Order: sequence, then C-alpha cells, then structure tokens
Amino acid sequence: AVTEALQLIFGALLNPGDNILVPSPSYPPYTGLVKFYGAEPREYLTIEENGWQPDLDDMRKLIDERTKAIAVINPNNPTGALYEKKTVKAILDLAGEYDLPVISDEIYDLMTYEGKHVSPGSLTKDVPVIVMNGLSKVYFATGWRLGYFYYVDPEGKLAEVREAIDKLMRIRICPNTPAQFAAIAGLTGPMDYLEEYMAKLRERRDYIYKRINEIPGVSAVKPQGAFYIFPRIEERSKWKNDKEFVLDVLHEAHVLFVHGSGFGRAGNWHFRIVFLPPVEVLEEAMDRFEAFMKERLS
Ligand SMILES: Cc1ncc(COP(=O)(O)O)c(C=O)c1O
Repeated sequence: AVTEALQLIFGALLNPGDNILVPSPSYPPYTGLVKFYGAEPREYLTIEENGWQPDLDDMRKLIDERTKAIAVINPNNPTGALYEKKTVKAILDLAGEYDLPVISDEIYDLMTYEGKHVSPGSLTKDVPVIVMNGLSKVYFATGWRLGYFYYVDPEGKLAEVREAIDKLMRIRICPNTPAQFAAIAGLTGPMDYLEEYMAKLRERRDYIYKRINEIPGVSAVKPQGAFYIFPRIEERSKWKNDKEFVLDVLHEAHVLFVHGSGFGRAGNWHFRIVFLPPVEVLEEAMDRFEAFMKERLS
C-alpha cells in the first residue's frame, strides 16, 4: 500500500543528511519514515486562507543541494485540499528548475467534491514523477494493505532510483494472493458505487462544514477532497495547545478529534475531524462539541 511504497521510495532515494520536501500539514509517515532513514523532512507550508494550497515560495526556500525530491499529497490528509491545475504545474516547474523528482500521493484521487484531481504525472514533460495510489480509500479496502506506484519518467532520469527500489522489493514477500485477485477485480470492475458514495460524503462534508463554522471559537475551510476537515482553534486562551484542547473535548464531551500539530508545524492550533460517519452521528458529535465550546467560552 502507499505507506509501504513510501518506505521503498524513501529507502532508495535518501541517504543520511539528505532532505525531502513534504507538505505541512501531512499524513504523518511522510515525516516519520524520512527520519527513519536518517534524512530530514522539510515541511513546506500550505496556506489555510487559500484553501490550504501549497506555498511555492516557501517550497523554493527549503530546497538546497541535499534535497532529493518534492512530495505532494493531493487531495490532502488532513486538510481536504484539492490543488488547482496551475498549482500542480507550478510545482512541476519548480521541481524541473532544481532537477528534482516529484512524489505524488493520489490515494484520494476520485474522492473530490467540486473540482477534479489533476496528477502531475499527466502534465509532466520532463520532470520524473512517481505516482502512488492504492485500494485503501476509493475501494474501501484499508486493511488489505494493497497499493501500487508507477513512474512517469519521460527522460529516464530515475534509472538509478528504480534499480535501488527493485533491490528493496526483492527483500520483501508479496501481499497475500486472495487480496491480489480481489484488487484486480476492484481495479477492473465497475465504479458506479462511487457516485452514490460521494453523494453521501458530500452531504456529510456540507453538514460538518456548516456546523463547525457556527460554533464559537473555531472555523474551517471547506474541504474539496478526501473525508477530512481541519478546523482552526480561534479561541486559544483556555488551552496550552491543540493537543490539550483535543484531550479536553474527549474527556468532557466524549468526542474524539485528532490534534493538528501531529500533522506538522502548520497544524498547530488545528484539529482534524473525519466526516465518514452518517449525518445523525455527526450531528450528535457536533451538538456535544457545540455545548462544550459554549460552556468553555462562557
Ligand atoms: C495521504 C495518505 N496517503 C496514504 C495513506 C495510507 O494509504 P495505504 O493504506 O495505501 O498505506 C493515507 C491514509 O490515511 C493517507 O492519508
């Protein structure tokens, strides 16, 4: 699956002392696995007021001679951001300027609301792109641990990295056979279930977005993809940090959010909500959270 692909790709690409650009906030293995290989994850900011789109200037500032790649997570966990085509192009241009490959995490590619996902793999002319995807989200098979990655490398710049990845793959044993056959059925079968599912998710996204922005002390940008919303804690005088806030909500209201700083520096004073449950469940959670905030801010 994608997490295992990251392990292989980072293992092949990174030596101790190297660095790689990863989005902030991001899915935590991006920082954890890079550190595991003795390298440094450099977190580029994404801008909340701009729908959590990446900050290209910040990205550029972080690049040096030990930078080995730019990682892109689009649609994003935990922000629900969907990057515009011009942003994807700008990232490719930047990568091209510094001769860096782009690592593209597209696990939520078909889970979008208004816009459509654009892959750097479909736009690139010369910049090598490693595209990762899997069955955990769109195909609802998270626990099966199945995924794939492929190279879009028109000029063959990744030959050495590919050889190293192949070597790492030969150390591993394959995923279990029944799951592999099921994956083929999933990937080649009809996708009509997704329309109905996304209609449900859209309803839940609209509901949670509306409720969160009506609750005093918090606000959130509307997610354009995936199934997360990443609200900002506006009222900060009652807690030391976002982690203390999340624990307070858990102990008092019995609603579990994830603290934002766990996703990187841009996650400070934020928290993540997964809006997969039905509206009735989200309603109960938001009623409790609203009562909690009103009580705390009174
Ligand atoms: C951005 C992102 N990539 C990858 C994964 C995990 O994918 P997999 O189950 O294929 O390892 C997640 C799951 O939370 C994710 O949010």
